[in-house]
Amino acid sequence: MPVYRSALLRFADDGCALYDEDGLLAIGPDAQGRQRVLAAGAWQALSPQYAHEPVTHLPGRILAPGFVDMHIHFPQTDVIGSPADGLLPWLENYTFPHESRFVESEYSGQVAQFFIEELLRNGVTTALAFSTSHPASVDALFTEAQRQQMRLITGKVLQDRHSPDGVRDDTEQSLIDTDALIQRWHGVDRLGYAITPRFAPTSTHEQLRGAGELAARYPDVWIQSHVAENRDEIRWARELFPAARSYLGVYDDFGLMRERAVYAHCIHFDDDDRALMRDTGAVAAVSPTSNLFLGSGFFDYAGADRVGFGYGLASDVGGGTSFSPFHTMLAAYYVGREGQTKQGLSLSPQRLWWQHTAGAAKALGLAGVVGNLQPGCEADFVVLNPEATPLLARKTRQARNLDELLFALIVLGDDRVVQETVISQAKYGSSA
Ligand code: GUN
Ligand code: ZN
Repeated sequence: MPVYRSALLRFADDGCALYDEDGLLAIGPDAQGRQRVLAAGAWQALSPQYAHEPVTHLPGRILAPGFVDMHIHFPQTDVIGSPADGLLPWLENYTFPHESRFVESEYSGQVAQFFIEELLRNGVTTALAFSTSHPASVDALFTEAQRQQMRLITGKVLQDRHSPDGVRDDTEQSLIDTDALIQRWHGVDRLGYAITPRFAPTSTHEQLRGAGELAARYPDVWIQSHVAENRDEIRWARELFPAARSYLGVYDDFGLMRERAVYAHCIHFDDDDRALMRDTGAVAAVSPTSNLFLGSGFFDYAGADRVGFGYGLASDVGGGTSFSPFHTMLAAYYVGREGQTKQGLSLSPQRLWWQHTAGAAKALGLAGVVGNLQPGCEADFVVLNPEATPLLARKTRQARNLDELLFALIVLGDDRVVQETVISQAKYGSSA
């Protein structure tokens, strides 16, 4: 049974960080053979129970939960850094042409392998990802995630209109394909399926209706889409669905608002939209590097908390500019601070970290499963080096408390901080 001695970060149920400077993490298999956390806490209190076990001692390192990315596009790995005058030209000029390449299984497989490795290299151990409209892309990503024993949720993109040849799908076939992929993959090992209408403007009423029917038939399958990201997009959605109360209301009208429904962006909301999120249990994937890169706007944290709907953090690569959770947390801090279009506030480092780990897991309906290192959680974790760069080492050595330590990592950290990522039994990266 692996026992680690190191600094240890985890989260209480209320989202507060628990930190043991000299901590113990014990891991062992459950009845199904999956590695779970058996014990986590202070070395002094717990070590007598493990006196006969070999201990991996990692002085100067921090064990922390693997990060959870609530929204990322695997076929946009190579779209990162494509400049455009906002979302819609970016989709038309870069994203759709690139995604058409994923009709080929072999190409999909090559990118899937790189994508999963890049997630793990950055310390991301759970992701909710878009594939493309081609079933081959879904098979490729699930196959690779399964090989790496990673917890991953994805789905075939539904887009049967306002999309060019090469990515546009057929309404009836798209729903047949979705049903077949759910049956093939959902619940296999650590994999989950997400019904994936790209966004309301690229689906017909019939396709959205079919997606809603599948969502009702498979209540533990996820739903993922985009909403209220950009003002041109919102205008377009309102023209196409004039009877809906709002852009978000379109998804409600088609039965796509429920628990396990994850909507990226959720920027340009009114309080009725926020209440709809809260009342249906749908959650937001806040994607700050993407929103800053595409100039979409700023997620209103105070508005979300005032009404009380769930959210967590996401990279939204390739609108987003980085796989690194450290970059995403820093961008979320900038977005929170922005005070010209909405109330500005200072998100605490503990809160930012929670939003990318236990908070994101909670929003996905996976609280107590991933995103934390409390007993019973699946044992996905990262080994962080708080002295990975000269400046970071100076700054973290001067930290007087946990907030200062976490903030130094958020502001100065990136993939260099992630010394190792441990996925259940498998190991990724240099040995600690
Ligand atoms: N809206 C519809 N498709 C996309 C996409 O691929 N990325 C982003 N950021 N927004 C979208
Ligand atoms: Zn997206």
